[in-house]
Amino acid sequence: MQRWHILGVGAIGGLFASLLQEAGTRCTLLLRDSDPDLAEGTTCITLRRGERLHSYQFEASASADASPISHLLVCTKAQDIIPAIAGVAHRLAPDAVVLLLANGLGYQQQVRARWPQLDCFSGSTTEGVFREGRRAICHAGRGSTLVGQPGRETAPGWFDAWLALPIQCGWSRDIDTVLWRKLAINCAINPLTALHGCPNGELAQRAELAALVGELCAEIRAIGIAAGQEQAVSDLQTQVMAVISATANNRSSMLQDVLAGRETEIDYLTGHLLAQGREHGIEAPRNAALLAAVKALRAGTRPA
Ligand code: PAF
Repeated sequence: MQRWHILGVGAIGGLFASLLQEAGTRCTLLLRDSDPDLAEGTTCITLRRGERLHSYQFEASASADASPISHLLVCTKAQDIIPAIAGVAHRLAPDAVVLLLANGLGYQQQVRARWPQLDCFSGSTTEGVFREGRRAICHAGRGSTLVGQPGRETAPGWFDAWLALPIQCGWSRDIDTVLWRKLAINCAINPLTALHGCPNGELAQRAELAALVGELCAEIRAIGIAAGQEQAVSDLQTQVMAVISATANNRSSMLQDVLAGRETEIDYLTGHLLAQGREHGIEAPRNAALLAAVKALRAGTRPA
């Protein structure tokens, strides 16, 4: 029977572990060696949807354990993906399935280069979920999840378990476009909200920020087109404004990272975008200024 190991048990990792288990797929949570739940060997996640609370019991396993992993779901922050997989690499079956479900681009190639034997897939989700406690998450907004593998038309057999999830989840024949579109939207929203310490909606409400979003979108679009991603960046500004409006009260993941004193994903978002721009001889001064400003934010310092 298929068993998924979950690496990165934050909001997204906790949500997918719970949904998979609810749909009958067994999951094991991979925890840091210092995690107190490891003493019990099990851990519980509480998932809130509106007024209803659901509890899910999971097997817990330390990364350093020896039992083999056949299916690995990676939901860490982009910058943690390589070290996190390295920590469990000794457990991965030679042809293990690895599904990377994180923001950003660039780490996919790094994983494939370092572990070419793995069967690597990528995913992108717009499910609205946030943490309410150490193992408590709130599924606040319904979205959709797309999974794919560059160049692969049809879904592999293991994906049947994902089609059974009680959310909108599908196979994408063009996951690169999906990931690029998400990158473009994240680049236009996340760094600005992190710098201004504002919920997403303020990017539309404050005229000077709305103008900046427009300028960022124009640069991102130019790079996308040069990189052969016309489809991903068509109507970019309209798409970005729609996401801002749909998530008006949300704090972006990057703002949450800054407020919590965590490292941000900026290198795999704006950093990756600018690297693509350099490759195609396209300058993006507005995005470059945001990259520098986000990097200059001292960890734990509240943004202005
Ligand atoms: O990273 C995020 O926070 C989200 O993907 C989104 C919707 C782009 C901004 O809140």
